[in-house]
Amino acid sequence: MGIRPWQFAPGIGQVATAHHAADPVYLSASDAIGESNLLHRKHWEWVFTHATADRLNLLEAGRSALGFGVGTEPLVSAFAARGVEILATDQPEDQAGDWATTGQHSTDLRDLWRPTICDEEVFARAVSFRPVDMTSLPSDLGEFDLVWSSCCFEHLGSPQAGIEFVRNSMRHVAPGGAAIHTTEFDTTRLKGLLEIGDVGRGTYACFYRRRDLKKLVSTLRSEGFEVEVDWRVSRRHPAERQVDRPPYSHSPHMRVEVEGRIVTSIGLVVTRPVTTT
Ligand SMILES: C[S@@+](CC[C@H](N)C(=O)[O-])C[C@H]1O[C@@H](n2cnc3c(N)ncnc32)[C@H](O)[C@@H]1O
Repeated sequence: MGIRPWQFAPGIGQVATAHHAADPVYLSASDAIGESNLLHRKHWEWVFTHATADRLNLLEAGRSALGFGVGTEPLVSAFAARGVEILATDQPEDQAGDWATTGQHSTDLRDLWRPTICDEEVFARAVSFRPVDMTSLPSDLGEFDLVWSSCCFEHLGSPQAGIEFVRNSMRHVAPGGAAIHTTEFDTTRLKGLLEIGDVGRGTYACFYRRRDLKKLVSTLRSEGFEVEVDWRVSRRHPAERQVDRPPYSHSPHMRVEVEGRIVTSIGLVVTRPVTTT
């Protein structure tokens, strides 16, 4: 892989670190998504997704993209501004629970347009919306050059449901295309996978460990997909020593305490070779 420790390397799976916030590509992607809370793990997820899609030449006019659980994230507008045709999806409203009441769920296009990063007409032409349950993907979704989800597959009700979603999402990646999925990542070397909340209320989350995601990566490779991940976790940057503990300040928020674990984000990039059927 040849990645230096803590190098921002969009295109390859990696763990969020505060070191990335000094990288010019990170800063340029932050501008593209119109966000400035650089040392926040969710900001990192959006930036990693944008920079990876760009590195893989998937943000070109005429490309197509499918976003899952988009909430009110800025990526839809940022991708539309680059000329990508997008199908944005989120779960049906009647199952959204707290996601709807905390402004993290969308029901139509009005929740997704960001006037500061995308012209209204461009957005209206490029983006369509459809409710989709990530635990039961409709067979008629079709294939796209880019498939993505940010901070979603840990919220599907069980660790296995998230893993199945990632595998199933590959059915919607066109040959030569890629899926980019970010999720919460438990950096603590403790036994047992942490799960919190309640899926019916929209508060469920699980925190994947390296061993869980390594298993997923092996499965994806055995299914013919290409995945590289740099699993190293940085712990020494000043913004990482400053772990955000409840009640969270959200600045910095790159290392977060959840029930005694130290959590951050990780991005996975799964490509479908042109030859895979
Ligand atoms: C933490 S929010 C993230 C929203 C957005 N992707 C972002 O990065 O800000 C989790 C998202 O997952 C969606 N979600 C949860 N369960 C889902 C399901 N079963 N199917 C589709 N979306 C789901 C929620 O509606 C919400 O939009």
